[in-house]
Amino acid sequence: MLSDTKIMLYEAQKNQYAVAAFNVYSLETVQAAISVGEKLKQPIIIALGERYFDSVDVEGFAAMVKALATKSSIPVALHLDHAYKMESIIRAIRNGFTSVMYDGSRYPLDENIRRTKEIVEIAHMAGVSVEAEIGSLVRGEFSDEEEGDGTLTDPQLAKEFVEATGVDFLAAAIGTVHGLYKGEPKIDLDLLQRIRQVVDIPLVLHGGSGTPDEIILETIKNGICKINVNTEVSMTAVTYLKDLLKNEKMPHLSTIMANMQRTIESTMEKFVRLFANQIGDEYIIKSPF
Ligand code: 13P
Repeated sequence: MLSDTKIMLYEAQKNQYAVAAFNVYSLETVQAAISVGEKLKQPIIIALGERYFDSVDVEGFAAMVKALATKSSIPVALHLDHAYKMESIIRAIRNGFTSVMYDGSRYPLDENIRRTKEIVEIAHMAGVSVEAEIGSLVRGEFSDEEEGDGTLTDPQLAKEFVEATGVDFLAAAIGTVHGLYKGEPKIDLDLLQRIRQVVDIPLVLHGGSGTPDEIILETIKNGICKINVNTEVSMTAVTYLKDLLKNEKMPHLSTIMANMQRTIESTMEKFVRLFANQIGDEYIIKSPF
């Protein structure tokens, strides 16, 4: 079923697990994410970034996700990731997205607050929840996201921002990067704890790819309820394609797409198990679905 992102993340917060938000752009990537959620009985967030609005027909994409979600046995949310323009937010709301992320992190705090507050008022009138970001992520290897300056989230500013805007979830910049890390990851778990102490809404971790498992589990213990993943899924598909084309001259596109879906499912499964706090075959904490 199509589910309210906010309810999904409040459940995750209460039960100390995180919901995977996969960046997707096609039927196969959406099918892969939903089928992994069904296999592991975990909720899933389908995330479409504003940067893909040029290549993905938003109306068609939303209709497809809603149809697949309706058929599905698990809660599926439809989220707009990293939107910079009001028109994209409105378009997502009109098309039944269950949450939107407004990324005003490039603006000074006052301006970010003013813009985010306006978006929260509009989105809430439509029953859509809003994620926002304080601080920003550097772009690591193989990422398709915008370059940020790597400013970490200041807990006091985060508190002020959340109170002033009424956002529903906050993306906390604690040292993860979009894409793969160029050196050793330097994730500030102490900072996350300090943010958690002053901000009680669900916290979001961007830059799931390449982040060590034990750090992911620590972030979940400290309030992260949604983790975004893009690069590693893309890398799995591209690696599959490179290998395939080395061995086969002219494979049929229909076979490529079907096999690619199965391949990325294995990468998505790794993340969903980890975020559900499931290690090996044993659940430590189960989500209620
Ligand atoms: P990765 O590409 O590092 O998985 O991050 C994705 C992301 O945070 C999208 O918002």
